[in-house]
Amino acid sequence: MSTHIKDTAHFAKTVLMPGDPLRAKHIAETYLHDYEEVSNVRGILAYTGKTSEGKEISVMASGMGIPSIGIYSYELYTFYGVENIIRIGTCGSYQSECHVGDVILATSACSNSNYASQFGLKGGQVSPCSDFGLLLKAYNNAKAMDLNVHVGPIFSSDIFYDIDPDYYKKYQALGVLGVEMESYGLFINAMRLKKKALCILTVSDTFVNKDKEPDLSQEERQTKLDKMFKLALTMAE
Ligand code: HPA
Repeated sequence: MSTHIKDTAHFAKTVLMPGDPLRAKHIAETYLHDYEEVSNVRGILAYTGKTSEGKEISVMASGMGIPSIGIYSYELYTFYGVENIIRIGTCGSYQSECHVGDVILATSACSNSNYASQFGLKGGQVSPCSDFGLLLKAYNNAKAMDLNVHVGPIFSSDIFYDIDPDYYKKYQALGVLGVEMESYGLFINAMRLKKKALCILTVSDTFVNKDKEPDLSQEERQTKLDKMFKLALTMAE
């Protein structure tokens, strides 16, 4: 059935997707009840269990980058009946109002990836977006949890170690809130397969307030990311 996920795995309608397999494990062990490991192909851990409200939810790692999330999201949507994939990750901030530790909900993703070239649009562009219903629900829940939340476009880059240190300024000038490396691929798969996707990010580092704001420390990572995980868990249906 599926090349990269265990054939017999059962997934909930909604899958939370951190990049890191150990983050998926942490979320399952910390927040889920009656959970089981449903797949571990190539160390990409996946769990299905219940939230504290008794709603079924899955959590599975995406790995890093658009090709990786492209594979796993395609297989979850196509072969496992998954309807909603919610990426939960970190990003670098491009705007001074997006501080380290804040939450960003991506409306859409720009990219330097050629992932959309498969559609043969002859110079045309795809504008991959979060699902509006999921976005609205996450925004309202984030506000109710008193999180510092920003909503806007992000940049999904194919390059972490860019040779041009000022490259980000072009996206910053366009009002792009921050950079990560996966959402563009996830959003395109959701568009193509008529499914839903959302991206929730915590700012882990900043390109603009560098002197004033250090990267998220190990300790802060625990508390700030846990707030984002709790927000993501409110998305179970
Ligand atoms: N670049 C790309 N991805 C990221 C970053 C970054 O600075 N920070 C967190 N994810």
